[in-house]
Amino acid sequence: MPTLEIDGKKIEVEDGLTVIQAADQLGVEIPHYCWHPGLSIAGNCRMCLVEIEKSPKLQIACNTRVTEGMVVHTTSEKTKVAQKAVLEFLLINHPIDCPVCDQAGECKLQEYYMDYDRQRSRMPLEAKVKKGKAIPIGQHVMLDQERCILCARCTRFCDEITHTSELGIYERGDHCRIELAPGKTLDNPYSMNVIDICPVGALTSKDFRFKARVWYLERTDSVCGACANGCNTEIYHREGRIFRFQPRANLDVNQYWLCDAGRLSWSGLQGESRLLQPLAREATGFVPTNWTGALSGVATRLRDAAARRPGGVAIVVSAEASNEEIALARRLGTTLGATVTGVSWSPPDAFHDDFLVKADKNPNTRGLALQGLATDTQAAEGVLATIEAGTLQALVLVRTDLTRWLDRARVERALEAVPYLVVLDSDRRDVAAYADVVLPIGTYAESDGTFTNHADRVQRFRTAVASPGEARPGWHALGDLVTSLGGDAAPASADAAFAALAAEGGAFAGLDYDLLAGHGVTATKARASA
Ligand code: SF4
Ligand code: SF4
Ligand code: FES
Repeated sequence: MPTLEIDGKKIEVEDGLTVIQAADQLGVEIPHYCWHPGLSIAGNCRMCLVEIEKSPKLQIACNTRVTEGMVVHTTSEKTKVAQKAVLEFLLINHPIDCPVCDQAGECKLQEYYMDYDRQRSRMPLEAKVKKGKAIPIGQHVMLDQERCILCARCTRFCDEITHTSELGIYERGDHCRIELAPGKTLDNPYSMNVIDICPVGALTSKDFRFKARVWYLERTDSVCGACANGCNTEIYHREGRIFRFQPRANLDVNQYWLCDAGRLSWSGLQGESRLLQPLAREATGFVPTNWTGALSGVATRLRDAAARRPGGVAIVVSAEASNEEIALARRLGTTLGATVTGVSWSPPDAFHDDFLVKADKNPNTRGLALQGLATDTQAAEGVLATIEAGTLQALVLVRTDLTRWLDRARVERALEAVPYLVVLDSDRRDVAAYADVVLPIGTYAESDGTFTNHADRVQRFRTAVASPGEARPGWHALGDLVTSLGGDAAPASADAAFAALAAEGGAFAGLDYDLLAGHGVTATKARASA
C-alpha cells in the first residue's frame, strides 16, 4: 500500500495502481484521451503527462505505477507547457468542424482546448491534411477520419472486448487514419460502444446524429429492459421525448458497455401503439373513459366475478412488469381470492452470447420467481386450460399478451369466451382486441421502480419522461384498483410499494430504494447477510 503525494495531497493506494487512477481517487482530474478503464493501456496520446519529482522527464500518468513516496505535480508549469504542446499537436490537422460536429458539447478536444490550451493555431487552413468524412462503416456507425486523434480506443475495443478486429490504423505519420480491416464492416452486436468511447467526433451514431445538441438533453439513471442482464443505462431526454440510451458503468453487470439492440430499444418505448386513455367496451366498440369511472367499473365487475365463484378471477403478470407491479398484482389477487400466474416468454431463437446479452428478453423473470410466481409458458398454458374449462369469470392481464407465446387460434377462442377481461399495458397489443376494459400504464422510462436481473441483482430505474396522455405508472393503477376493491390503501409512491414488498420478509427483505441507489444489490446476498 504505497503512500504518494499528488498536488500536495497525500493518499495511500493499492499496490499496482497507476498515477491516473490514484489521482482519480483523490478527485484530481488528469486529462487523457487514449486511457479508458475498460481497455488495455496504449499510452499513445501523451495528454496525461505529469511531473514526477526525481524523474528527469515528464511521465504519462496512465502507464506509470505509483511507488512509495512518489510526489506528482499535475498543474506545474512544466506540465502545463506539455499539455499545451500535446493539444497543439493533436489539433494540427483537425478540421474546424465544431459548429457542425455531432460530438460538440461532449468532445474532449473542445473541452481540453478550453481548459489547457487556448492558443491560436499556427497551422494555415489550406495546409491541413484532408481525410475521409462521413464514411458509413457499419449499420450504426459513421466515421470521420479527419476528426480522429488516433487514440486507438476503438481498435482496442474491437480487439479486446468483442474480439472481432474490424478496425485498424493504416498508413504513417500525418496520413495515419482509422479504417475498416479489408473485407470487414463494423457489425458486431456491441458496435455502438466505439461511439461512446471515441473522445472526439470521429465515430458518431447514425441513430442519434443531428437529432439534438447534448447540452439541451437531460439524463436519468435507468436500467435496460430489453433482456435479463439489466445493463445500467442513462436515458437522454428532452421535453418528454427520449433521444438515446447510453451505458452507465456497473462493473458487476455491464462494465462500461451496452449491446446495440438494448441501446436502440428506447424507440420501442415511444411507438405509435401507445395507449393514451382508459378504454371501455361498448356495443359499438371501445369508448374512451376516465380513470375514476374505469376503476370503479372494473372493481364492481371483478368483485361480482369473485363472489359468483371462489377462484373465479385469474390474474396473469408477465416478466416485463416491475417488482412493485408484481407485488401489487399479487395483492390484487389476495383481495379477490384470485389465482396469480407469472409468465416469462422469449422467442425460441433469441440472440444471446456469453458476454452480456441473455436469451431471456424480459427484464424481470427473476423478480417473478423471487415473489414465488412461475416463469415458464407452462403456467400460461394452465391459465388457458382454466379459461377453456369455462369456469373463469374474469381475467386480468398485466403487461401480458397471451397471443404472443401460445397457439394463437386457441388463445383467441379462449379469450372470446372469457366473460370479463381487463388489460393493463403500455401498448395496444393483440390481446387488447378481446378486452372489456383497457387501462394504459407507463413504460419503465415513465416510472420509478425496480427489476431483478438474471443474477438476482435488484436495480432501480427512475422516471425520465412523463407518460403520454392519461397513462399512469403501473404501481399507481394497480394500487388504486386494490383500494377500489376495498383492499389496502394504495401506495403513495413506487418507493412505498417497494417498502411494502420488502416488509413481506421474502427475498427483498432488508432492501430499500436508498440501498439500491447507484448499482443495485443482489437480493439473495442481502438476505444471507440480514
Ligand atoms: S476514431 Fe475515435 S476512438 Fe478511434 S482512434 Fe480515432 S479518436 Fe480514437
Ligand atoms: S445485454 Fe440485455 S440488458 Fe444489456 S443492453 Fe443488451 S439488451 Fe439491454
Ligand atoms: S492517456 Fe496517457 S498517454 Fe493517452
